[in-house]
Amino acid sequence: RRTATTDYYDMTIRHGAAEILPGVSTPIMGYEGRFPGPTIRAEAGRRVVVRQTNAMMHETVVHLHGGLVAPGQDGHPADSIAPGAYREYVYDNRQPSATLWYHDHSHHMEAEMVFRGLAGFYLVGDRRERRLGLPSGRYDVPLMLRDARFDEQGRLLFEMDDFRYRNTLLVNGRPQPYMKVDGRKYRLRLLNGSNERYFTLRLGEGDGDAMTVIASDGGLLPAPVTATSITLSPAERVDVVVDFSRYRPGTRVVLHNADGTDEATTGVMRFDVGHRVPDLSRVPERLGHARDLGEAVVTRDIEMKLDLSIGAFVIDGKTFDMDRVDTKIKRGETEIWRVHNRDVRPSVPHNFHVHGTHFQVLDRNGQPVTGHEAGRKDTVAVPIGGDVRLKVRFDRYLGRYLYHCHLLDHSSMGMMAQAEVI
Ligand code: C2O
Ligand code: CU
Ligand code: CU
Repeated sequence: RRTATTDYYDMTIRHGAAEILPGVSTPIMGYEGRFPGPTIRAEAGRRVVVRQTNAMMHETVVHLHGGLVAPGQDGHPADSIAPGAYREYVYDNRQPSATLWYHDHSHHMEAEMVFRGLAGFYLVGDRRERRLGLPSGRYDVPLMLRDARFDEQGRLLFEMDDFRYRNTLLVNGRPQPYMKVDGRKYRLRLLNGSNERYFTLRLGEGDGDAMTVIASDGGLLPAPVTATSITLSPAERVDVVVDFSRYRPGTRVVLHNADGTDEATTGVMRFDVGHRVPDLSRVPERLGHARDLGEAVVTRDIEMKLDLSIGAFVIDGKTFDMDRVDTKIKRGETEIWRVHNRDVRPSVPHNFHVHGTHFQVLDRNGQPVTGHEAGRKDTVAVPIGGDVRLKVRFDRYLGRYLYHCHLLDHSSMGMMAQAEVI
């Protein structure tokens, strides 16, 4: 349904079956029973109302990852939809164009439910971006990258924190697919939708062909940057423009994962290049603008750690309690958060995601970040034994927002906390 200022979507969250492996029907959980869920296209300044009906046997809650939405619409685990019930999520889209996604955030269950398929793209567009002339329409392709583990019957097999066995790579729900592309520019929206796997993406042979990075989690970068290798930890997004006209027709260009250990985990997908076609799209020198977040008035340290004595992942020594406020932050005040990964032995990678805002990454282990990480972010990798410093500010709503490790098995096992904006 469409009115002058609002787009309405109706979705049923249900069990379904998807053909993920060729010829095999795999039980999944999906928005509209699809794996992954349908892509929602929103327009900045226009409201989107999504009515989500829970047709499953257990609770679920839908979070809009990267959305600058009010706490009540954010998908807090305390706001779950009971089996058989529905609720409407209202998204105002008061934010610039960006690649977002929506996914389950059920209490202690998000790892399994996202793994089983409860995730989909949510793309915000705006007039400013359309004027830039970037590749659009069918030349603007969202790609959800993730891994999965299957049993002999082709059913998804989930065991907490068993990432070593999740050795099948999927793109938009298919293993190592190929895509026919015209000889022209494409915008590829790359999302790492894995629970725990990191991707280091390279295009073509050897050290990798150049990709033009145009956007990060929070939207367009101030200016495009060229990269031959892009690392994405879980939930991070990067939009790149690839010009396939530089390959001869008939070339097969493989998108590789340089972190892979074997054939199964190295090849991500393939682009089969066709003939050159007229291409009026372009990547201008100037794209978006990132407002400076101002002088910080408060600095705080946040520690992420596997606590072996209680067998849980903790933030600042505590496992998640949805009734406890861990941090208070004044609306409109800039803070510096220094986030530490204390897990050297055993070594465990973490990342850090904040709801309800886009932060600026100042540095990692004292080194300024570059490339897509210099843009506005909502998720950032925190290396083993290292730290990242972020500038964080909440400008809009009062209330509670989560922050957590987005290795979802870790957050499901307690590595999550919440800030109250006051
Ligand atoms: Cu994408 Cu709290 O998560
Ligand atoms: Cu989020
Ligand atoms: Cu973690």
